[in-house]
Amino acid sequence: MSKETSEILFRPGLEGVPVTHSAICDIDGLNGNLTYRGYPIEELAAHSTFLETAYLLIWGELPTQDQLREFEAQVQMHRRVSFRVRDMLKCFPATGHPMDALQASAASLGLFYSRRAIDKPQYIYDAVVRLIAKIPTMVAAFQLIRKGQDPIQPRDDLAYSANFLYMLTEREPDPLAARIFDRCLILHAEHSLNASTFSARVTASTLTDPYAVVASAVGTLAGPLHGGANEDVLAMLEEIEKADGAGDFLDNAISKKRKIMGFGHREYRVKDPRASILQCLAEEMFARFGKDDMYEVATALEEEASTRLGPKGIYPNVDFYSGLVYRKLGIPRDLFTPVFAISRVAGWLAHWKEQLGANRIFRPSQIYTGAQKRAWLPLEERSNSIDA
Ligand code: CMC
Repeated sequence: MSKETSEILFRPGLEGVPVTHSAICDIDGLNGNLTYRGYPIEELAAHSTFLETAYLLIWGELPTQDQLREFEAQVQMHRRVSFRVRDMLKCFPATGHPMDALQASAASLGLFYSRRAIDKPQYIYDAVVRLIAKIPTMVAAFQLIRKGQDPIQPRDDLAYSANFLYMLTEREPDPLAARIFDRCLILHAEHSLNASTFSARVTASTLTDPYAVVASAVGTLAGPLHGGANEDVLAMLEEIEKADGAGDFLDNAISKKRKIMGFGHREYRVKDPRASILQCLAEEMFARFGKDDMYEVATALEEEASTRLGPKGIYPNVDFYSGLVYRKLGIPRDLFTPVFAISRVAGWLAHWKEQLGANRIFRPSQIYTGAQKRAWLPLEERSNSIDA
């Protein structure tokens, strides 16, 4: 391909460039609609559970009663992690970010399971069960380990979300809190070709094992422009401090070209439908468990931003209200992104399975901008100004 043609085709960040067919999730960013396998996100968040939604995403249909019972039982059976994984987590620095601990522990699972039958339905089922079951256990284990405690074992009498909150906080959660957390997991489970899912698909396309696929996606999710934004939103709200400071904060930030965390999305030109549902969940949490002063700051910021950023199509995204819900649930701030990963693993695995079904290794091209061919210089003849 000529350099001129490449320049015409070049889209930084692959914006608007289709790179695969996919039947998993559809986003209508102009009208703010999101569906998983054709089901509106609002209906799933109201009626489904996270495990049922994960099954839907990965296998394409809502499970029957028997399929769901079996899937839930399998996930429950595989919640425990090997003492070797727990010992590895104990070797990590307590000051390290939990996303790094999660990335390493997710990758380590590949050491325990063979990758030979990667395209067989039973291999796929088992890998899905293990990853969905063990990731919450590993996140909770690192949290207790870094506090100097031993991880606690999962409780078989608790459903998926209640068990995670129990392993994290060492207290059986209120049923409403557990249900709200489960609904948060549904909302974060899938979102087409975001950066981490693209990363998962690229890794999957090499036919490596699903543990490497998920580890690569976890590393990608960690960045502040992606999943890491939910941590930064709370820091920003605390910086604003009071609702009446929102306008000045925005003016100042916009004049300095500073991004407002939890705002803007490559796909949406209106408020992210997940942000609207999360806002309702935050209000439910505050009505039951007491208010959070930062909520007033958040709604003031959203209102002030509507006139300043709205005309550019920049509105709250999924990360804007999620942190307020998680904080009320007692989840530490630097676990917000690992919690995102607990949920998004469902979407990553759906894309892994879909990629295997019609695989072609990803290998895009580039436009070379470096030096033209030149002669090698002996050491004593070189001089350059690179700061190394
Ligand atoms: N605050 C202020 N201005 C913004 C923001 C924002 N949050 N987002 C976009 N803009 C402006 C940007 O400055 C640019 O303006 P101009 O054309 O005048 O230079 C224009 O909108 C286009 O921005 P962009 O960064 O080129 O847009 P993008 O599609 O590459 O970025 C984004 C999407 C999500 C990375 C970006 O909106 C952003 O950085 N948001 C803040 C971080 C954040 O909340 N991330 C979570 C994303 S949703 C969940 C997830 O993916 O994990």
